[in-house]
Amino acid sequence: MTNHHIALIPGDGIGAEVLPPARRVLDAVGARHGFGFTYTTYDWSCERYAREGAMMPQNGLDLLRDKDAILLGAVGYPGVPDHVSLWGLLIPIRRGFRQYVNVRPIRVFEGIDSPLRTATPGEIDFVVVRENVEGEYSEIGGRLNRGFPDELAVQESVFTRTGVTRVLDYAFELAARRGGRLISATKSNGIVHTLPFWDELVAERGRSHPEVDWDQEHIDALAAKFVLDPARFDVVVASNLFGDILSDLAAAVAGSIGIAPAANLNPEREFPSMFEPVHGSAPDIAGRGIANPLGAIWSAAMMLDHLGHPEAAGDVTGAIAAVLAKTDLRTPDLGGTATTTDFTEKLLELL
Ligand code: NAI
Ligand code: MG
Repeated sequence: MTNHHIALIPGDGIGAEVLPPARRVLDAVGARHGFGFTYTTYDWSCERYAREGAMMPQNGLDLLRDKDAILLGAVGYPGVPDHVSLWGLLIPIRRGFRQYVNVRPIRVFEGIDSPLRTATPGEIDFVVVRENVEGEYSEIGGRLNRGFPDELAVQESVFTRTGVTRVLDYAFELAARRGGRLISATKSNGIVHTLPFWDELVAERGRSHPEVDWDQEHIDALAAKFVLDPARFDVVVASNLFGDILSDLAAAVAGSIGIAPAANLNPEREFPSMFEPVHGSAPDIAGRGIANPLGAIWSAAMMLDHLGHPEAAGDVTGAIAAVLAKTDLRTPDLGGTATTTDFTEKLLELL
C-alpha cells in the first residue's frame, strides 16, 4: 500500500483546530482508495517562539526535507510581531524548498451566499497563481537613523528573469488545462522598472503558449473587477504582493476566507510542497471550536492531487460541495451555529 509521510505544522490559534479535521478526511479518503499516511507533527509556532526564542529549530528545514508534503494550519499570534512568525517559519520554508508557485483556487459553492448576491454558484471558479519567493517580499533594504527626524526605510523589490518566467510558465500551463484564459496583474504605469519587465516576460511567454488567450490589467482596476465581475476570470497570475492581496480579496468574494485553500508548490518536486488554508490563526475565535475547517480540508485535497491521487482529491472537493449544497450545517463565519467537529462529522458522512 502506498504510504505518504506528511509533516503537520498546526501552528497557532485555529491552525490547531482545522488540521485534525483535514487529517480525518485524508485518512478516510486514503482508506477508500488504498493508500495511507504517516504523520509527524511539529509544534513550530509563536508559542514555541515565546518559549525558546525561535519559531522552529535551526535544522527545521532538514527535518522536513524527506517528507512527501507539508500541511500547515496558520501561524501568528498577538504578542509576537507578524514579521517574526512569517520570516521565522513560512518564508524560510517557501524559499528554502523553492515553492515558487502559490496556487489559490476560488469557487462559489452551491449553498454559499457570495457577498455578490447576483453570482450564481458555479459561475465563479478561478485560480490565482502567486509568485511566492521573490518580488516585493525581499530582504534587501534597510533602515537608517532610527529614532531621529531623518529616519528612513528602503525596501527593494527583486524580479528575476528566471523567477518570473517559471511562475508565468506554470500559470500559462494551468490556463491551457483549464479555460484557456489568463490575466496578468500589473502596475507598469506607476512602478516603472520591475513591472514593465514583468509585462515583457508575460508577452514573451505568451508567444510560447499560443493556445492561451492572455491579457494584462492594472492591479487597481483588477481589484475592482474581482468584485464587479468575478465570473470572467479563469487564471490570474500576479507577483508576490499583488497575488497575496488579490487572493484574499477573491476568497472574500467567494463567501468566506475560512473556505479558501492554498498550495505552495515546488513544481520540480526536488523538495516537499506545502499546503495551507489562506486564513490566519484567527485569535478572535481561537479556542472556541467554531473555526471553519473547509480551507484546511480543501488544502488537503490539493495535497492529494499533488501526491498523485486526483480521484481522491475529487472525492474531497465533492464532499465539500455536498455538505454545503445538501445540508444547512454552517460554521458561524457562514452564518450558522455548527461547531468545527459537527461540521467535519457531516462532511465525513457525505464523503
Ligand atoms: P485571519 O485570517 O486570522 O482572520 C481574519 C478574520 O477571518 C477573523 O475575523 C477570523 O475570525 C476570520 N476567520 C479566518 N479564518 C477563519 C475560519 N477558518 N473560520 C472562521 N472564521 C475565520 O487574519 P488576521 O486576523 O489578519 O490575522 C491573525 C493572525 O494570523 C496574525 O498573526 C497574522 O499574521 C496571521 N496570519 C497567518 C497566515 C498564515 O499562517 N498563512 C495568513 C494570514 C494571517
Ligand atoms: Mg495573505
